[in-house]
Amino acid sequence: MAEKRKNGIRIYDPAEFEGMRKAGRIAAECLDYITPYVKVGVSTGELDDLCREFMKAKGAIPACLGYHGYPKSVCISINHVICHGIPSYERKLADGDILNIDVTTIVDGWYGDTSRMYYAGKPKLKATRLCEVTYECMMRGIDVVKPGAHFGDIGAVIEEYAHKYGYSVVDMFCGHGVGKVFHDAPNVMHCGRKGTGPVMEEGMIFTIEPMINTGKKDGIILQDGWTSVTRDKSLSAQFEHSLAVTKDGYEVFTYSPKGLDKPPYKLD
Ligand code: MF3
Ligand code: CO
Ligand code: CO
Repeated sequence: MAEKRKNGIRIYDPAEFEGMRKAGRIAAECLDYITPYVKVGVSTGELDDLCREFMKAKGAIPACLGYHGYPKSVCISINHVICHGIPSYERKLADGDILNIDVTTIVDGWYGDTSRMYYAGKPKLKATRLCEVTYECMMRGIDVVKPGAHFGDIGAVIEEYAHKYGYSVVDMFCGHGVGKVFHDAPNVMHCGRKGTGPVMEEGMIFTIEPMINTGKKDGIILQDGWTSVTRDKSLSAQFEHSLAVTKDGYEVFTYSPKGLDKPPYKLD
């Protein structure tokens, strides 16, 4: 059957959500799996290898590998890196680093996209507070999702909460429609005004992935063509979930099966 779209946004049959549950679960399991390896001294290249091997063992394809020429399987963005940090064997984690690991799986053609922050050693209060607030920004954004809400409502609540702490919201990258493709309509802005943007409908699937900076919102892209850093070198944090609009609210596909949704992670 031809795919259905509303205002350019694809509408999936809720019966198809099972595909997203599988892809989302493996992406979230990958982030759970990597948690104990995130330590002072490990290189981001080694973390990338571990994630790739995990995905392969689970029968998932790493969506990032080769995507528009991207050279690695996950993105790892440390400290002032906003997003799309490229893992390398040269960059070893140092005490006090905060980092985002962003994993996207492809399972039976479905894309599960999620990211979390991690701590190496003991980051400063300024850094851990940014991570706490960024997580709360994502969750507040998710909580407005339901049929009839506007996409602008998401950005409005995120921006309001971030500004309360004097933080800025990155506007050069957004969340996105997801499902049977990696990046689809709509652009899910993390700032904006309530009541603006397209209206949500049951069956829409997208990500919410706010990037929040302690300094100004502006970013620049490095010579490698990927790594985006804050222009003022201030710290940046991000969390991401993939979710769908349901009959009366939302379903998140990428919760941590182990309850490791945000740091500090208690491992047993
Ligand atoms: N996972 C990222 C997102 O949230 C996209 C990474 S694309 C890559 O949309 F090529 F940089 F890996
Ligand atoms: Co995404
Ligand atoms: Co992502």
